[in-house]
Amino acid sequence: MYILSVETSCDDTSVALLKGEEVLACEISSQIEIHSQFGGVVPEIASREHLRNIDPVLNEVLKKSNVSLDEIDLFAATFAPGLIGSLLVGLNFAKSLAYYFKKPFIGINHLEGHFFAPFIENSDIEFPVLSLIVSGGHTSIYFSEKPLKYELLCSTRDDAAGEAFDKISKLLGLGYPGGPLIDRIYNEYEDIEPVKFSMPKISDGSRAFSFSGLKTKFLHQFRKLEKNEIKEKSVIALVRGAQEGIVNQLLKYLEIFAGEKNPKTITLSGGVACNSLLRKRVMERFGGSYKVRIPSPFYSTDNGAMIGYAAYVRFKNDFSSPLSLNAKSSMNL
Ligand code: KG4
Ligand code: ZN
Repeated sequence: MYILSVETSCDDTSVALLKGEEVLACEISSQIEIHSQFGGVVPEIASREHLRNIDPVLNEVLKKSNVSLDEIDLFAATFAPGLIGSLLVGLNFAKSLAYYFKKPFIGINHLEGHFFAPFIENSDIEFPVLSLIVSGGHTSIYFSEKPLKYELLCSTRDDAAGEAFDKISKLLGLGYPGGPLIDRIYNEYEDIEPVKFSMPKISDGSRAFSFSGLKTKFLHQFRKLEKNEIKEKSVIALVRGAQEGIVNQLLKYLEIFAGEKNPKTITLSGGVACNSLLRKRVMERFGGSYKVRIPSPFYSTDNGAMIGYAAYVRFKNDFSSPLSLNAKSSMNL
């Protein structure tokens, strides 16, 4: 069966074509250059860009996969969570195609797409799965005992991990998105000792990520350095410490829940899963006792193929969505 899937929840316009669970083509038109002028994603611009890009991206996918629209068996799109104007573009695009070609449609939760991203390149993932989804908008750990069943174990109280990377980068005037830039600095200056950032203390004892304290400590320390004439080495030590601090927190909760839930596979997904330190530490710490499966950077960040894969699994389990399905800006899995 052929599946055409669309992802437009944030600033990437992506369309993919799958034959069952195999990805035949996946194209992404990134808006990073446009939004980087503003230091972050501007929602109004994002939705206009999706409108402009979606047709050419679709045509490229059809050309590369050598499949025509009337051969498609199932249309899918992200319907939540995300920027509402952006979601509406992809959702209405896919729903219109399903209506015109009289084929089924499935709306997919963006987080479910990220959950299935590691499956695209790994056919050996076994349930139960412990999944860390970590991006510019989300930082959550889900436990999935069997396909399409999710338990949210832990999420963030304030910023997402990717957002913390992006805010720190903006403060330093490095640019957007910040994660890859901070990761590069981390790796380029291995000889500079990172500043220590302690774990946040959650006063009511609940288990949740929190990155606002780290960001505030970074800001204060950076301001102090600014007052005393900035020394490059001290800023690098601070940046390296921030990356360590973010990664340590992610690892801490993965460790706790891996112990409690005893999964067969641990997966990472979302843009921050591209982070070299996180990938390395997760492999080191969990690779011996669990299957650890991390998507390649292409499938870690937002892409249409992960939405198509999730739609394939849902379709096999007799799901479909009504064409009245509307976009939602926030929603857990
Ligand atoms: O999944 P994604 O493409 O979009 C969202 O759904 O948010 O993730 C984008 C986020 C940005 O915050 C970006 O800074 C972060 O992923 N990111 C990274 C790295 N590459 C991308 N964060 C840390 N290290 C990286 N290498
Ligand atoms: Zn995402």
